[in-house]
Amino acid sequence: MTTPSGPGRPPAARPRVRTDLDGLPLFRGRAAEPGTIGLDCNESPFAPPAAVQAALSGAVQGLNRYPDNSSADLTARLAERHGVPPATVCLGPGSVGLCVQLIQITCAAGDEVIVPWRSFEVYPSLAGTAGAVVRRVPLTSGHALDLPAMAAAISDRTRLVFVCSPNNPTGTSVSRSAVERFLAEVPPDVLVVLDEAYAEFTEQEADPLDGFGLVRDLLRQGRTNVVALRTFSKAYGLAGLRIGYCLSAPPVAELLGRVAVPYAVGTLAQRAAVAALDCEREVRERCRHLTEERERVRAALLDAGWDVPVSGANFLWLAAGSAAEAFAAHCREQRILVRAFPGEGVRVTVGADTENDAFLAAAARFAPIDAGGAVGR
Ligand SMILES: Cc1ncc(COP(=O)(O)O)c(C=O)c1O
Repeated sequence: MTTPSGPGRPPAARPRVRTDLDGLPLFRGRAAEPGTIGLDCNESPFAPPAAVQAALSGAVQGLNRYPDNSSADLTARLAERHGVPPATVCLGPGSVGLCVQLIQITCAAGDEVIVPWRSFEVYPSLAGTAGAVVRRVPLTSGHALDLPAMAAAISDRTRLVFVCSPNNPTGTSVSRSAVERFLAEVPPDVLVVLDEAYAEFTEQEADPLDGFGLVRDLLRQGRTNVVALRTFSKAYGLAGLRIGYCLSAPPVAELLGRVAVPYAVGTLAQRAAVAALDCEREVRERCRHLTEERERVRAALLDAGWDVPVSGANFLWLAAGSAAEAFAAHCREQRILVRAFPGEGVRVTVGADTENDAFLAAAARFAPIDAGGAVGR
């Protein structure tokens, strides 16, 4: 076989792929490890409600057909629930799929995306895929988003800002008034995404964010540069189905539709999400139980001398500093998976009661090491 080559064109040894992607981190997800307790992915420990499982079984028969590309039923349900027009609601293959689309509609090579850091680990790689430049704005010493510093980091090249609340992996939340002050500093041509993947676990009584409520109010005032993002993966326990949604101004929603992968949100995901919205009481009760468990685990960790910020999510952040990897390795030896961020801390998901007991027992067996004061026991 000969290698085709045009005039003046040396035969290529391999496909000419983008070399600027070489440094992108590879997202590995969890490696299946039977017999371990997985507290490393912020999943729900509960199987989907029985009514959701029944809806899934009922939908199997029609899987020879493509899904409804407009997700009309689910869109209508979400619009009704949040008191907004259907044209402002978009569905995506997980909220991470919508993050990709939000970057696609705002960024070309060289444009800037601002992210708090540390935050959801895939923001930088998704932005890098578009050739965008990522500006990471450090968290405060209290592990919270530094919104004034994020506002100050905006430049003429900034196209997109991610505000993650509760923040993954630290669990800290920002208040509505802090976000409003921040938005007052953001030029109207810069898109701000309020990523609320864990909103259902937040019990902030004073001044809660509720990004959906905020975006709805802003849309009524004609402000079009803020998007609120949520998911069925966490509180609704549908991580395996991949479905998320967002609320935005209609022109933004329209563009999100243009860049969407056709039929990306499958029939099963749509049907399950509609059924899950009908199980609101059950879902709320599960979230309440998990937040109680979160507080039980946090209290025990605080008693043991760990620095654990208040969390509004279904996970806790142990600011373990240089002990992070050793602590995660110790937990792994006890067959418990937690997520280490080397040199920074460990994120542990709130699981089923017995799983949390097992984690606390493992944590209690961790030999305290001097991590420069990070493990203050
Ligand atoms: C802050 C944040 N946003 C978005 C996502 C994506 O969730 P999904 O794609 O499952 O909806 C996650 C998942 O862990 C997350 O932590």
